[in-house]
Amino acid sequence: MGSGKRKTALEAAALFLTVVFAATAERKAHAALSPEESRSLVEGRQAHMREHAVALYNLQRILKSGEPNWAEALIYAQQFLANSRDMASWFATGTGPSSGAATAAQSDIWRQPEKFRRNREALVGETEKLLAAVRARDLAAAKRQHNATLEVCDTCHAQFRAQHRVEALP
Ligand code: HEC
Repeated sequence: MGSGKRKTALEAAALFLTVVFAATAERKAHAALSPEESRSLVEGRQAHMREHAVALYNLQRILKSGEPNWAEALIYAQQFLANSRDMASWFATGTGPSSGAATAAQSDIWRQPEKFRRNREALVGETEKLLAAVRARDLAAAKRQHNATLEVCDTCHAQFRAQHRVEALP
C-alpha cells in the first residue's frame, strides 16, 4: 500500500515536471523573440516568399516565349534554387500564429517539423532538376520541371498555410 502511494506521488512529481518543462520551453520560445522581432521576421519571410514567386513567374515567362533567353533563365533558376535552400531559415521558432504577428503560417509547421522539412526538401530536389534542365537548355524538361516545382509550392501551402489570407497579387 505504501509503495502504491509512493508511486502515485512519483507519478504526480513526474507529471508536474513535464508540465513545468513544457511551459518553460513554450515561454523560452516566445521570450527569445520580442513582438517586434517576430513581426519583422514574419514580414521578411513573406517578402522572401513573394520574391520566390516572382523568380518562378519570370522563369515561366521566359520558357513560354518562342525563343527562350537561356542566359536570363539561368539567373532566375539559380536565384530560385538559392531561395529554396534558404527557406529552412525563414521559419524561426516564435514566428507562428501565437506570436501575434500577421502570419498565415500554421502552428503545424512547428508541431510537425519532419513533415514540413520533407516539403522543403522536395522543393530543393525539384528545383535542382529545374536548374539542370535550364543548364542543358532542354525546353521540354524545363517546362516539366517548372510545373513539378509549382506543385510542391501548392502541396506545402495546402498543408501549412492558412487560406484565409487575401493575396497581394491576383
Ligand atoms: C515548405 C512549405 C512551403 C513551400 C515549399 C512553399 N511555401 Fe510559400 N508559404 C509557406 C507558408 C507557411 C506561407 C505563409 C507565410 C506567412 O504568412 O508567414 C507561405 C506564403 C507564401 C506567399 C505569400 C507571401 C505573403 O505576401 O504573405 C507566396 C506568394 C508564396 N508562399 C509563394 C510560394 C511559391 C511560389 C512557392 C514554390 C516555389 C512556395 N511558396 C513554396 C510555405 C511554403
